[in-house]
Amino acid sequence: MRIVILGPPGAGKGTQAARLASALELVHLATGDMLRAEVSSGTELGRQAGSYMERGDLVPDEIIIGMILARIGGPGGDASIILDGFPRTVAQAEALDEALKKAGAPVDGVLSLQASEDELVRRLAGRLTCRECQRPYHAEFSPPATPGTCDACSGELVQRPDDNPDSIRRRLTVYGEQTAPVIDYYRQTGAIVEVDGEGAPGDVHERLLAAARRSF
Ligand code: AP5
Repeated sequence: MRIVILGPPGAGKGTQAARLASALELVHLATGDMLRAEVSSGTELGRQAGSYMERGDLVPDEIIIGMILARIGGPGGDASIILDGFPRTVAQAEALDEALKKAGAPVDGVLSLQASEDELVRRLAGRLTCRECQRPYHAEFSPPATPGTCDACSGELVQRPDDNPDSIRRRLTVYGEQTAPVIDYYRQTGAIVEVDGEGAPGDVHERLLAAARRSF
């Protein structure tokens, strides 16, 4: 199965993609996590991407499309995946469709996760992320068992550089201008299900799982 999870910053894509990956035995590919790993390793790609990310702008299509298609487009690519954070522009969606059709394994369906802007800002402003495994926490909504430490790998919890008020505002604007049109693209070309992302993470997970099992 090949699923895309779409949604604005803070909708819970990372939180929910990890749960769906485990429930449906999918490989979780998160472009934000992949890019942050490149930035912290100091690679050329990371150097190119870092300033866009910190401001809350999208990394240019030519960088990101090459990065993700190298992982999924070829014959050795993972067969069962959930894509989190990609595609984010119509050009990325078209490139993904073309590559997966060539590989004979198109996207089975798209889950579009939505939440109000007030809720998104509350979530992003309080998010803490593990420096090692990137698992997200929230100071109020999903705190770690030991303050400052990741439950999964004992890594240090830090605030992402783009979770500051200016970058959050910019990311929400960029989502409306460049990523919301991807929802219309999938409405015209494939199976897309809109799911309410508000409520307890466990309830959101049950909604997503039911939608994926029913529709894809
Ligand atoms: P990326 O890392 O993908 O960031 P994003 O899209 O802004 O999404 P977030 O990670 O902020 O939110 P999320 O929806 O995953 O929510 P989460 O589960 O963490 O991308 C970062 C940057 O990389 C981009 O700005 C761009 O520069 C670049 N980039 C990445 N992909 C790209 C692409 N394809 N093209 C170009 N550039 C690209 O949850 C958020 C918080 O809410 C957490 O604290 C969590 O604990 C909490 N929470 C989650 N669910 C709930 C709930 N139900 N109730 C209460 N709290 C909840």
